Amino acid sequence: MNLTKEEQKMLDGEYGEGVQKAMEIIVALGKIYGAENLVEVASVQVAGVSYKNLGDAGIEFLEEWASKGAKVKVPTTLNPAGMDLDDWKSIGFAEEFADKQLEVIKAFSKMGIPPTCTCTPYLAGNIPKFGDHIAWAESSAVSFANSVIGARTNREGGPSAIAAAVTGRTANFGYHLDENRVATFKIIVEADMKDTSDFGALGYWTGKQLRNKVPFFVGIKHATTDCLKSLGAASAASGGIALYHIENITAEARAKAMLSDDHETVTFTDKEKRDVFEAIGFSESEIDLVVFGCPHASLEEVRTIAERVKGKKLKAMLWITTSKQVKSMAERMGLVKDIEDAGGYIIADMCAVVAPVKSFGFKNIAVNSGKYAWYLPNQGFNVRFGSTEKCIEAAITGRWEP
Ligand code: F3S
Repeated sequence: MNLTKEEQKMLDGEYGEGVQKAMEIIVALGKIYGAENLVEVASVQVAGVSYKNLGDAGIEFLEEWASKGAKVKVPTTLNPAGMDLDDWKSIGFAEEFADKQLEVIKAFSKMGIPPTCTCTPYLAGNIPKFGDHIAWAESSAVSFANSVIGARTNREGGPSAIAAAVTGRTANFGYHLDENRVATFKIIVEADMKDTSDFGALGYWTGKQLRNKVPFFVGIKHATTDCLKSLGAASAASGGIALYHIENITAEARAKAMLSDDHETVTFTDKEKRDVFEAIGFSESEIDLVVFGCPHASLEEVRTIAERVKGKKLKAMLWITTSKQVKSMAERMGLVKDIEDAGGYIIADMCAVVAPVKSFGFKNIAVNSGKYAWYLPNQGFNVRFGSTEKCIEAAITGRWEP
């Protein structure tokens, strides 16, 4: 592999052990995937933040790396944690968990990584430009950056993203190269696509059909940013899709031809959409918890929900997971009060998949997100997947109506 003089110095340990370890990881990955060189990255998103997943071994690993002088040299943001970093107590998280979670955040801070704790860094200030090389972990954010913005990243793991942040480099393979960004599947979308959950269902179905290939969607006339993040998150979860194109909508598809001449074609109709929603379910109709915000809710999503539940007394618990920025703005707008008066919470910094949700005693959960619908059943919860409106109704009535 060709390294510049600067990169070779990092590898030789001239900038200290922490940087050397990071460069060793980058070079090792590059060799495995046949990269010819490294590229400079404009930004990094680090995942693997919840204490529920990291455990004490993870904290030790991070602290040791930080103590060897590993400091980030490019703008770097952090994925969600297992709780709201500020309001964990009032929401009901256990003190032992909170102490450990805050230790994790401290270790990342030592490396110079701010506790942004969101899976939508692109809504919170980490916004790459078209064509930028970046190194992002968090599959939904990877999908958004590659597909909607037209930046270039592979699906980084926790350590490889930190290594990229510390060296400012990543190995030049996979989605950094033009030839791997061309779609090999055309998906004709005939279904009625309105709600974010429709896009979640399309993503869920596409990931299952294509595994990790690149799809090119045609037939989608309009898609909000919230719909695009929902589509990418679900297809990344059910199949490992890191890049998609939508005719006339996503960045590269608007700039040039992104569908291979030699492609296969499949069609997504209302039947396929209905099948996805109906395949996820269970026999009881009681709902204990309704969770929105996967990926983290935008202010618009928070506003829609708050307006619907204002003045009501919810029968099921309602959680909206989002970034600290969105929660702060929602607070200023009185939306946090509206949600809390109804009996729910807006939870900043957290993802329900990596939070200790079982410790709250919830069993039956309703979601409008294809990604939550993919992961939460695997954690032993009974899950219903449906439209935003249906989920709001479930929060109000405590029931899932057919
Ligand atoms: Fe974000 Fe967690 Fe969903 S990281 S995309 S809220 S599964």
